[in-house]
Amino acid sequence: MRTDILQVPFLDLTAQHRPIRSEIDAAIAKIIDTNAFILGGPVDRFEAEFADYCNARRCVGAGSGTAAISLLLRAHGVGPGDEVITPPNTFIATVEAIAAVGATPVLADVDPDSWLLDPVAVESRITARTRAILAVHLYGHVADLGALRALADRHGILLLEDAAQAHGARWQGQRIGHGSQGAAFSFYPGKNLGALGDGGAVVVDDESVADTIVALRHHGQSGKNLHTYVGGTDRLDGIQAAVLSVKLAYLDGWNAARRQHAARYREFLADSRFSIPVSLEGTEPVHHLFVINHPEVHRVKMALSENGIGWGEHYPRAVHLQPAFSHLGLEGEFPVAEAICANIVSLPMFAELPSELIDRTCDVLLRVDS
Ligand SMILES: Cc1ncc(COP(=O)(O)O)c(C=O)c1O
Repeated sequence: MRTDILQVPFLDLTAQHRPIRSEIDAAIAKIIDTNAFILGGPVDRFEAEFADYCNARRCVGAGSGTAAISLLLRAHGVGPGDEVITPPNTFIATVEAIAAVGATPVLADVDPDSWLLDPVAVESRITARTRAILAVHLYGHVADLGALRALADRHGILLLEDAAQAHGARWQGQRIGHGSQGAAFSFYPGKNLGALGDGGAVVVDDESVADTIVALRHHGQSGKNLHTYVGGTDRLDGIQAAVLSVKLAYLDGWNAARRQHAARYREFLADSRFSIPVSLEGTEPVHHLFVINHPEVHRVKMALSENGIGWGEHYPRAVHLQPAFSHLGLEGEFPVAEAICANIVSLPMFAELPSELIDRTCDVLLRVDS
């Protein structure tokens, strides 16, 4: 990347933290002063706030988004012998979490326009062993929850949501996190709602599932010195919860800014060979990432780098093509997802991104395309 020209960062967390730094510092200081490092006050408070935000009955904090997905699956009794259907173009953590509970990940191809789980493909993968559909709201776009829910209900299986990239996204006017049997969120620092380290949460309406997760994340403890399950150390820590409480107040504003940036990118790139995933009707995305596809993506990446523009890849290799899951032997089975993954590039996207830098990025993109 050239250093003699104005850089366009892919992500700038410093810009996010600068205006709220004193609030964050005060929240952290309070945790240190009160030694509230593990569970208790700050975690309870954030859980109540985030449940309220998602309009769900309960939120249970977890150590990471990956842990949150596994906890949700386990609390629903999903385990060895069960199959869970999910898309191949997600971050590997979705599939890792399924494997971690001993269940079998079953992949289904995605829709070529939205790049999200295709309900028709999902139905073709349902067997007598299917226990759950794990929809992924990829890049902050809401999956086809209506069709997937109908499918899950018809087959008597669970609909769960990997909402790691979609805090605050809406379906039918309501924030996601209810209307399914549970949604898992990640608070990895770069997420729309990010901690200052690892963190995650599950949002559910079912009290008994929530109570099971409360126990599982904390050594299976269902009462003082009563370990009902073989659990682990999968808690959201106090410092992260306190920081998340500060940041939650800003989330809707940040998401609105991301939507404006996405609209600007779209407008610039409308008459080009760049393809951009479309949001499904009745959904309001939160654009965690702005990922585009181009037949000459290598040239695109080179041009971005030469012009000091940061870019990413989410994700250049579908999960079944990763060495960790190559034993599934599924190469070539998901032509839509494979084609999308092969030609993607993620553009700078964060709330504080100045619009001039979007214009500059699009100038470079359109020059490559012409
Ligand atoms: C779609 C998706 N699922 C799961 C995860 C896992 O979250 P974490 O990194 O907090 O474990 C992430 C984030 O990294 C993600 O993007």
